Amino acid sequence: MKKIAFAVMGAFFASHGFTAEPDWSKVTERKIKLFYPGQSGLEWVMNKADHSAVPDIVDKKRACSRCHEGDANEVGDKIIAGKAVGNSKAPLEPKPIADRAGWVPAVFKMAHDGQNLYVRLEWEQPKGGSFGMDKKNEVKVAMMFDGGFAEGAEPAMELAERAGCWITCHNDLRSMKDAKDDKKTKYIKGAALDGGKFMDLIQWRSGKGEKPVDGYVTDKRVMEGGKALVKAEGKKDGNKWVVTFTRALAGGGTGDHKIEPGKIYNFGFALHDGGSEARYHYVSLNYQFGLDKTVEGVKYYYNVVKH
Ligand code: HEC
Repeated sequence: MKKIAFAVMGAFFASHGFTAEPDWSKVTERKIKLFYPGQSGLEWVMNKADHSAVPDIVDKKRACSRCHEGDANEVGDKIIAGKAVGNSKAPLEPKPIADRAGWVPAVFKMAHDGQNLYVRLEWEQPKGGSFGMDKKNEVKVAMMFDGGFAEGAEPAMELAERAGCWITCHNDLRSMKDAKDDKKTKYIKGAALDGGKFMDLIQWRSGKGEKPVDGYVTDKRVMEGGKALVKAEGKKDGNKWVVTFTRALAGGGTGDHKIEPGKIYNFGFALHDGGSEARYHYVSLNYQFGLDKTVEGVKYYYNVVKH
């Protein structure tokens, strides 16, 4: 009788992802700056008249983080205040938002146990700003990641390893500069579920009764279909927020990338704070991770160690 109970429990835990988060105090932390990007869509970033770095991005294959890890806070402060930025010296925020932080100091940690990837994002509650756009959720945290690539090879999607989430962000999305359709959400040009040409997307939402999202981005954004997000939890402790994701390495659903050793994955975070929606979020620059793998000379790479 007992044996049967254990077997049933075992099957339950396996299929429902019984998981143990790592002892986070033992996991290496990585400080990042989440910043306010305004209307800096891919078309802005890749237009030399607006952004003088285009030849470096295209020819020298330089990534956003390589140049902006140091000044992302200043970039966010300038953009949110509606100041002139870029090569074209024009504002990237047509409606400056007073009394709202331009950037948020954050820390991420990641670990795995051979079955799941564990992600922890911690940040300080930024000052100001209540948008009231999302009536259900005061806070949302999302992570996007691609299907990974072998060191020295090209990723499946152009610019994924240089521009991170910006490959999904365009000038014609809702709330962006050239918006024509207020329902249009993020997409990737030339993306498809076949061949791993998509961004996997997971999101935690603070609203009571709200479910975590396990979706993806191809030529459109889909907020369902994934089966790999085991858990997403968040809480506020004093002035500090902590959100954790438990994500099955194997994937398995629609729009779920398999996370396997040997590959380098491109990813980024987005924080919708103060009931904001659409582009009114804080975002990270592009980062990379791999499982138990060191990569020399890439500062924005994070080694996810088995615990
Ligand atoms: C080779 C270095 C380099 C790379 C790579 C780079 N940038 Fe820039 N970026 C700059 C410089 C320099 C400026 C200042 C204005 C100018 O010359 O365009 C700038 C300006 C900006 C601004 C406006 C803020 C300001 O202070 O002017 C944004 C937003 C921005 N970059 C985003 C990005 C994103 C997103 C990426 C990756 C897709 C990226 N940059 C890649 C060098 C770089």
